[in-house]
Amino acid sequence: MLDINILSLIYLIASVTFIIGLKMLSHPASARKGNLVAAFGMGLAIIGTIFLYRDDNGNKLHNYAWIFSGLLVGGIIGTLSAKKVKMTAMPEMVSLFNGMGGACAALISMIEFGHFAKMGYLDTIVQSYEAGEVVQDAILTRPVPIETLLTIFAGLVIGTVSFAGSMIAWGKLNGKIKDFSFKGQHIVNLVLFTAVLALSAYLIVIVATVEPRPDPNIDVIVPKQLGSAPLILFYLTFALAIVYGIFFVMPIGGADMPVVISLLNSFTGVAAACGGFLYDNNVMLTGGILVGAAGTLLTILMCKAMNRSLKNVLIGSFGAKNTAGGGGGSKDQGAYKEITLSDAAVLMSYANKVMIVPGYGLAVAQAQHACHELEKLLESKGVTVKYAIHPVAGRMPGHMNVLLAEADVSYDKLEEMEQANEEFPTTDVVLILGANDVVNPAAKTDPSSPIYGMPILDVELAKNVIVNKRSMKPGYAGIENDLFFQPKTSMLFGDAKKVLQDLISEIKNL
Ligand code: TAP
Repeated sequence: MLDINILSLIYLIASVTFIIGLKMLSHPASARKGNLVAAFGMGLAIIGTIFLYRDDNGNKLHNYAWIFSGLLVGGIIGTLSAKKVKMTAMPEMVSLFNGMGGACAALISMIEFGHFAKMGYLDTIVQSYEAGEVVQDAILTRPVPIETLLTIFAGLVIGTVSFAGSMIAWGKLNGKIKDFSFKGQHIVNLVLFTAVLALSAYLIVIVATVEPRPDPNIDVIVPKQLGSAPLILFYLTFALAIVYGIFFVMPIGGADMPVVISLLNSFTGVAAACGGFLYDNNVMLTGGILVGAAGTLLTILMCKAMNRSLKNVLIGSFGAKNTAGGGGGSKDQGAYKEITLSDAAVLMSYANKVMIVPGYGLAVAQAQHACHELEKLLESKGVTVKYAIHPVAGRMPGHMNVLLAEADVSYDKLEEMEQANEEFPTTDVVLILGANDVVNPAAKTDPSSPIYGMPILDVELAKNVIVNKRSMKPGYAGIENDLFFQPKTSMLFGDAKKVLQDLISEIKNL
């Protein structure tokens, strides 16, 4: 009894650390600590469960060799891969780990369904009927409660879709799997999904409503025949959910994967919460709900920041719009002007305030360290330097924050979009490094543009705009950018890292 009370207290502490950890994750300065706080809580919950858990009959866990082997192998693989992973491969890793979470939730459901079968709910029914024996009391008095079945099937379906979808997302992000779709795929997906739901509903109904009925031949009560069909149908549901998970993610464009991963992450949370319900385990329930809610909110925020509905992301119509030339891609944009390295160096060195706008290209060029060096150099000359961070700059949530943190850029220098937009009118030079869509004025001015309505950084309010990229090619949205042709704007072509290094040398030589 004491063990159980201590365990409940541990679960409460762990749940609180999850909430505190999540809160701390919302700011770059506290994010690392937040991660550690939540990880500590999770560790505590795991250790507590292993040593203090008791089942209904008061039995402790006994298979320690399996438990600790699993912990060791998983711990080593997780630690090594987290240490090795490159920042640009982070969404891949998140996807892989998320898939493992989904698989765990699905396995819990499988084990529990099979467990019920072993306890006699399914198998014994079959045996009794086939043998024509008098039925045992246990079968008649202990049907599987409907809420347990609902939880098992929710965990199975959501966890499996999350697992299969995350594996495909992982393969796509590391380039091993290509986008794939065929005519009528959405209908096939709908049919698959309906089949999964229908099978689940059917199984829940037949298993939960097994009732004794009188046998006309022998004067005893025997249950309705279920045979081994429920178990077979259960595995069929699992197989269909795998196929659905694959088909669900297959057609989505690779660059939309972060949104889908966030959505799948919320699925895994919900599936884990189902496990919490099933085992009456509060910490699993709280953790699952927090992941589910955080994943859902992140998905919504990412869609909002890109001005795209979730449906739009899921059926990939962004790409379709792009190929249709939305946003004036074919318009005659006029001429753009270029700036030399030395002119750019002079302009920035004698400015009062420079705002740097980092984008996907900065991450591709791995130019964050050079960027920080430029910032320090300009500051040593009395220039105020800040960074304007768009919420979906780059290819994953917080991409620019993590990138700049890697180069030890101070968090105080990072301005969020609203804050940055207020500062642009008093800025002398905006230096755009490999960003494109997030500074495209078409989002404000061109209703036919696929990014119309997406909030953007109002860089054109500054006195001068310098854009560094390698060519006039479009960014992720595949559309031209009017900003590049405006009188205030000058293009500084080249790879971001090389350009920054050259710019630093020029400024040093001034
Ligand atoms: P983009 O619009 O993709 O533009 C990046 C630019 O970087 C390109 O135009 C490219 O032009 C340039 N570039 C590439 N490599 C470079 C290099 N080595 N050196 C210098 N420049 C280089 O990036 P953004 O402005 O950061 O916008 C992000 C886009 O991704 C948005 O459309 C957003 O909706 C989407 N998205 C974001 C997320 C999240 S959560 N962040 C998730 C999914 C999608 P060149 O080829 O001419 O060099």
